[in-house]
Amino acid sequence: MRLSLRFVIPLLLAIAAFAYIAVLVADTLMLRWFGRDLDIRSNLIATTVQEPLSNIIVTGSIPRITLYFNRMLLDERLYAVGLCADDNATPVATAQFPPEIKCSSLGKFSDDDEHVLRSPRGVLHISVRPIETGATPDPRLVLVHDMSFVERRSEETRRYLFYFFIALGASIALITVVIAQLSWRGWVQGLRSLLRGEGILRPARSTTAPELQPIARDLKDLILDLERQYRPLDGSQRIWDQEALRATLRSELHGNDVIAVSNREPYIHVQTPEGIKLQHPASGLVTALEPVMRACSGIWIAHGSGSADRDTVDRHDRVAVPPGHPLYQVRRLWLTAEEERRYYGGFANEGLWPLCHNAHVRPTFRSADYETYRAVNAKFADAVVEEANTKDPVVLVQDYHFALLPRMIRDRLPDATIITFWHIPWPNPEAFAICPWRTELLDGMLGSSILGFHTQFHCNNFVDTVDRLIEARVDRESFNVTYRGGTTAVHRYPISIEWPPVQLATAKSVPDAKRAIRERLDLPLDHRLGVGIDRLDYTKGVLERMNAVARLMELEPRWIGRFSFVQIAAPTRSTIDDYRDYAGRVRSLAAEINERYPDAKFPPIILLNEHHEPDLVYEYLRGCDVCVVSSLHDGMNLVAKEFVAARDDEQGVLILSQFAGASRELPEALVVNPYDADQCAAALQIALTMPENEQRDRMRFMRGVVREFNVYRWAGRMLLDAAVLRQRERFRATESLATHV
Ligand code: G6P
Repeated sequence: MRLSLRFVIPLLLAIAAFAYIAVLVADTLMLRWFGRDLDIRSNLIATTVQEPLSNIIVTGSIPRITLYFNRMLLDERLYAVGLCADDNATPVATAQFPPEIKCSSLGKFSDDDEHVLRSPRGVLHISVRPIETGATPDPRLVLVHDMSFVERRSEETRRYLFYFFIALGASIALITVVIAQLSWRGWVQGLRSLLRGEGILRPARSTTAPELQPIARDLKDLILDLERQYRPLDGSQRIWDQEALRATLRSELHGNDVIAVSNREPYIHVQTPEGIKLQHPASGLVTALEPVMRACSGIWIAHGSGSADRDTVDRHDRVAVPPGHPLYQVRRLWLTAEEERRYYGGFANEGLWPLCHNAHVRPTFRSADYETYRAVNAKFADAVVEEANTKDPVVLVQDYHFALLPRMIRDRLPDATIITFWHIPWPNPEAFAICPWRTELLDGMLGSSILGFHTQFHCNNFVDTVDRLIEARVDRESFNVTYRGGTTAVHRYPISIEWPPVQLATAKSVPDAKRAIRERLDLPLDHRLGVGIDRLDYTKGVLERMNAVARLMELEPRWIGRFSFVQIAAPTRSTIDDYRDYAGRVRSLAAEINERYPDAKFPPIILLNEHHEPDLVYEYLRGCDVCVVSSLHDGMNLVAKEFVAARDDEQGVLILSQFAGASRELPEALVVNPYDADQCAAALQIALTMPENEQRDRMRFMRGVVREFNVYRWAGRMLLDAAVLRQRERFRATESLATHV
């Protein structure tokens, strides 16, 4: 209705303006038409009176002339009559003859347009006609007609026009409203049924106007597109960002302390010849947790591993971060070289890491390593208890370095909410069972309130392992494990990155990034680039992707010298033999592949075996054509998500291993089996020749997912679940009190 009014009011205004103009035109026309009639009439009168009047004039009797004129006035239209002997004479005229008409000014009334005189007596029509008497000059007869009848008729006409336009306006408005209502309903119904798919899928029943169908189809596609991009896939309508996470913490957990625990710290201070420098470690865990801690504040307890870490803490071993704009505290824990070697290098990275990854590297278990692992976990438990300001803090335990920690915290802070997240895959029960301390590890982990994995597959593996190896009650409906009087909820929380990534605010434009990289590597501007960004870890499939590049050169020699693959390989865990071996093998394979093409202007592989800070990593992600993530086994892999987030130009192709958790969320990537060199080479070829619009379509989908499933959602979902658990605990406590009363 409002829509119709919006149309009808301007319409009525337009009609009113049109009516006004019509009246003006009608007035003018009527005056002109009646003026012409009176001219003709005056001619007729002049011709009729010519003879008698000329005789009377010749006799020269003014009273006779006046008498004759008065007789002429019996004609009701004739208002006055006068006679001018010459220009200087006074008119001989009837009583009403307008005094404005002088004999000297008669000339202007002989002009066609000047026949009308607007006098105080009304509108008068003046015609001047010569009367032939033989005198020189001929006297002139002035016939004055009353035109007030024209006025009267004009007014009548105006009234009729006014009624006419009112009626016209009302009818048009009414018809418009009715048609608008009917057709709007029709359109809406038509569109609705089309959007429901009826118009398209069941055209026989469609009542929609055929001309609407293409519009509706486009509309439907657009809506589906938007829905797909923005629909929160878990059904929650919440948009997660830093503020939403902060608000969740405040409202659901009453602003409780958040204590995060991880082995790797978010900021490392290192001594360099130029002084103390800050380093951001290459760690998916840190990439994910750091923005969460920025949002939640609180304290993050981690191993102080940097050479200048001790020089930068306060007397409580704390340092406020991020530097320059502190939002939370890092509490550094010091480990001896022996502790680091046995707990971190030994049990965590030679035992649990290969145990949980299918990368064909055998785990090594040593009891001394396990003992140290247990001791270091206890050390972290002490730190958690020290840092807790309340008896029920929220503790976020991170990763495989701390399988025993949840139980240790539970024993000392029974009311704590302990959320443990296992950032790496969980193997099947047979694989896990080879660990000599399997039950201790499970017991430790089941001290958690919530235990999170990236994928449902890993949750299933964990619950199967528990079911197989210890005496616990497993509820497969709710995925709760009840053990030693406590319950642990085992859930899937796919980890992610912050959106938008903080690096983007200061990042170079994509064209500038492309140029900068090629200048740095001495490559021509149109040189095509693939990029891989990894720690030099045997699980990352770096050898496999290099073999794929070599295979591409064999199958498509046109890329020789025109395409290079830049592998950024951050040194990692270099005290461990398997890692040192792997780094050596990567270096020699890169050299060996490049040697195969001695004549190529630019080598197929460019290996950058050093740590790159996040800004530079983003530059590579923004400036490359293809990003390859070819992990042999990976919990999630955040480089894949970082690549997608970095490409706000919606260009670039992601080649992603089917064995990385990220492939479940990003199926629009070119998903490959990294063990299949031919398939990976084909994917590289497809990526390098993919049309821009296809790149855009794929990238847009993936960006929608990463934006929606950002790391604030990851943390937020866990905190919300924790809040529910805490509430249930409280109810249970009240119930048990009631039964005791
Ligand atoms: C993986 C682990 C993290 C670890 C990271 C880097 O992502 O899940 O816990 O921090 O690798 O490894 P590093 O041994 O250098 O901490």
